Amino acid sequence: MAKVYVFDHPLIQHKLTYIRDKSTGTKDFRELVDEVATLMAFEITRDMTLEDVTVETPVGPAQSKILTGKKMGIIPILRAGIGMVDGILKLIPAAKVGHIGLYRDPETLQPVEYYVKLPSDVEERDFIVVDPMLATGGSAVEAINSLKKRGGKHIKFMCLVAAPEGVKVLQDAHPDVDIYIAALDEKLNDHGYIVPGLGDAGDRLFGTK
Ligand code: PRP
Ligand code: URA
Repeated sequence: MAKVYVFDHPLIQHKLTYIRDKSTGTKDFRELVDEVATLMAFEITRDMTLEDVTVETPVGPAQSKILTGKKMGIIPILRAGIGMVDGILKLIPAAKVGHIGLYRDPETLQPVEYYVKLPSDVEERDFIVVDPMLATGGSAVEAINSLKKRGGKHIKFMCLVAAPEGVKVLQDAHPDVDIYIAALDEKLNDHGYIVPGLGDAGDRLFGTK
């Protein structure tokens, strides 16, 4: 069964409060999402592997460590996932970025795929699929189906706010994909929105409505 990690670091929780606040405008919303993505990336990369090296300091040789250089990929679910990409790239700038375009049909709430472009060496990379919201779970499940169908194997899912319903759906569909979230909220409303959530993440990031 996939593990669920809730990042309760004070900086993440503080910034998330302003992300949730309906009076936060697009510019600040975007900057805060970017900052929280960086902070979450710091936590999510804790299991990166290291190797021993010797380095010459001005005083003499030191036994030290560097990353083994495992290839990484970041996959934002369009549109709102785009808002988290730069924040993650600040910590892992060599990661390649693929895109999976999905929107939720407003009537059925089912995800509709409209775009997929992944790194060519998909089978060799460790992936972080990102989207600010995990609501019914349909979009995350479908994006990960799409990535696995093309050879993706080592996958984590990262979001800002999740509903318990979405976490369960994702865990059931992809028991090998651990889930990293900044806040686990109460429930979904009748329109499939997370309560209390933060509203429509894509619209708030891009200033649309
Ligand atoms: C939002 C959000 C997720 C999805 C979550 O995208 O960014 O992708 O809904 O809902 P789910 O868990 O019920 O599938 P939306 O469909 O609004 O598209 P957008 O990012 O283009 O605004
Ligand atoms: N998508 C959003 O942007 N917000 C929600 O609360 C649910 C799905």
